[in-house]
Amino acid sequence: MPTSSKGTKKTVAKPSSHIKIKINGCWHNFEPERDITPTMTLSYLLREKLGYTGLKVSCDEGGCGACTVILDGKAILSCMMLAVAANGHEILTIEGLEKNDPVVEAFAEQCEPGYGTALQCGICTPGFVMSTKALLNENPIPTMAEVKEALSGHICRCGCYAGIAQAVTHASEKIARKGDVS
Ligand code: FES
Ligand code: FES
Repeated sequence: MPTSSKGTKKTVAKPSSHIKIKINGCWHNFEPERDITPTMTLSYLLREKLGYTGLKVSCDEGGCGACTVILDGKAILSCMMLAVAANGHEILTIEGLEKNDPVVEAFAEQCEPGYGTALQCGICTPGFVMSTKALLNENPIPTMAEVKEALSGHICRCGCYAGIAQAVTHASEKIARKGDVS
């Protein structure tokens, strides 16, 4: 905000021309055009420019959920968002989760008779994990209908849906045991 006072020269604060995005807890500054072009997607910025390769770009058109990250607490498709639109926002990629995160653990452990594994090739897994994380942060004990609704935009071409649903249930139980919804 411009400031002035008697006997001092009036100064006008110049708005910052940089794009600032908080990624996994650290603010990054980007120069428009040089670092981020107007048409660059957030998924491209994260994967190709910054090396957050946990998110996958499978369809690149909003149809599979593999590129899901969390923006300001909500799961979003990073292939459908321009990088410039993330200016001032906070992003969490799967690399930003703790290794002992209950959701990560539940997906890694899931191989139960009757439900099967939560992952085979693993391409879809980071996206499912991030949507599950966002869901359980808001709703730590979701019904199965709520789980299906939250994960409905994701495709698992290996067909691990039963195992994935069971992993979400186990993640919810782990969070309840820890009393931790962070
Ligand atoms: S890669 Fe973004 S939804 Fe498929
Ligand atoms: S585990 Fe292969 S696509 Fe889901």
